[in-house]
Amino acid sequence: MRPEGREIGSEFHWDPALLLTVAREGHLPAGHQLFATGCGAMSALLRRLAQPGRLHVPSFFCMGVAEALSADMPLAWYRHRPDGRGPRFETLRARPGDVVLAQNLFGRDDGEAWHDWIDANPDVIVVEDHSHDPFGPWAESSTAPYAVASLRKTLPLPDGGLLWSPRGLPVPAPAGEPSTGAHLKLTAMLLKSAWLDGRPIAKETFRELQGRGEQTLLGSAGPPSEFTAAVLPVLNIARVRTASTRNARALSALLGLECDVPRGAAPFRVQLLCPDEQSRDDLLRHLAGHGIFAPVHWRQDRGGVWSGDEESAELADRILTVPVDHRCGPADVHRAAQVLGGKPARSTKPRPLAAQR
Ligand SMILES: Cc1ncc(COP(=O)(O)O)c(C=O)c1O
Repeated sequence: MRPEGREIGSEFHWDPALLLTVAREGHLPAGHQLFATGCGAMSALLRRLAQPGRLHVPSFFCMGVAEALSADMPLAWYRHRPDGRGPRFETLRARPGDVVLAQNLFGRDDGEAWHDWIDANPDVIVVEDHSHDPFGPWAESSTAPYAVASLRKTLPLPDGGLLWSPRGLPVPAPAGEPSTGAHLKLTAMLLKSAWLDGRPIAKETFRELQGRGEQTLLGSAGPPSEFTAAVLPVLNIARVRTASTRNARALSALLGLECDVPRGAAPFRVQLLCPDEQSRDDLLRHLAGHGIFAPVHWRQDRGGVWSGDEESAELADRILTVPVDHRCGPADVHRAAQVLGGKPARSTKPRPLAAQR
């Protein structure tokens, strides 16, 4: 087998085996709207709400999304770091007329604290971001006014941003045309699938399409591609969640890390925390050298839009995500653990997030 054939992580390919054999109704939230992207869905919602105040964003979040949303509302930040302590409500100074973005960070939160906060602050609009576990127990039992989830982070789809109101409030619909970016990305997914099958497709071809597609798609508040709209209702989401949960648990166990998640939740891969930025970057290179493409959720550029919370930015400098998603089998998970065991000399042992508690 080509070494590339054993890659772990990177973009999803299209795999028709992930479709249900029998259609099942009702795994999408009632009254939802489907957009091309999660960011576009949030932006359309903020524009519809037209609140006069500020948008409160967690200090450990995707800075590109925060920056995009700052065009719709001025930003404020509250502390929510990947330290197992959840949101720090004493830093969330929201007033009536403000909107708060709450997130299920790495699929490890149960939403209980938010449930209470929402009850106690009925004049503040809370939008929950469930991108890391869109079909988990918190998303399904949410009491928030609004919820959103970017779907292509966990599901093999070229695009898709789900917007719904757990309270049954009206939500805006997408406007305009689907993004051509989704078509480029779908082409990349199909070509990658052929490449994985050993067909003579150059890796650069689908990588270039994927990158260009993502750039074109970025922030689209249009409708999803026809492909995503047709496939989402018949995707075997339970199977994807079960497989990725099994893999995150297995890798955590092999590395001697805790995998402490709410009952029924699907953790978003495995995050490691290195001693410093240099050892994190060394580890990223080491993993890539073994065909394991680990993303960083999320870099904070102190010279650009960032949380202003030095500790969150410092954690962002040291973190990486080992992408043991639903595509991995037990052998892949073992290989990832082995590769992590033989790290380059300069990187000291990565520490689990739980060790920060
Ligand atoms: C947690 C989270 N929420 C929302 C988004 C926005 O989703 P999309 O890329 O579909 O616009 C992202 C994107 O990276 C994200 O990481």
